[in-house]
Amino acid sequence: MRRYFILSAAFLMLLLLSYCGSARRGAPIYAPLAIESEAVANGEAVYMTYCNKCHPGGAAGLGPAINNKPLPGFMIKLQVRKGFGVMPAFKEEHITDQQLDNLVAYLKELKAAK
Ligand code: HEC
Repeated sequence: MRRYFILSAAFLMLLLLSYCGSARRGAPIYAPLAIESEAVANGEAVYMTYCNKCHPGGAAGLGPAINNKPLPGFMIKLQVRKGFGVMPAFKEEHITDQQLDNLVAYLKELKAAK
């Protein structure tokens, strides 16, 4: 009897895990953004701190929209590190490489959600 209980508990766990793990793979996401990964959540925090005032919600503000074009990750990183025109450069003291990776992950989600 006990063995059956353990077995079915294990089965339930597996079932739960498979639900949580891959609910959204390959499926389009629509706003509001469902943030699932820690990297993306961190990226959002960085974005809100440093970028949102000029690119509100990824849309155009003082800066151009960045959620409507296919910007490759390295271009985003270059733009953030070097700055351009009115946009200031953000050095490692403000945004670490790790945070920059997260930021790019967040921007990809943001664009996919459009
Ligand atoms: C002070 C306002 C300001 C802030 C803060 C700012 N940006 Fe910008 N951003 C701009 C402006 C202005 C441009 C257009 C630059 C140009 O081409 O002259 C721009 C351009 C860009 C581009 C290129 C868009 C394109 O069409 O090629 C990206 C990507 C970008 N910003 C990302 C970011 C990210 C990520 C952050 C946060 C780390 C950020 N920006 C913070 C003003 C800002």
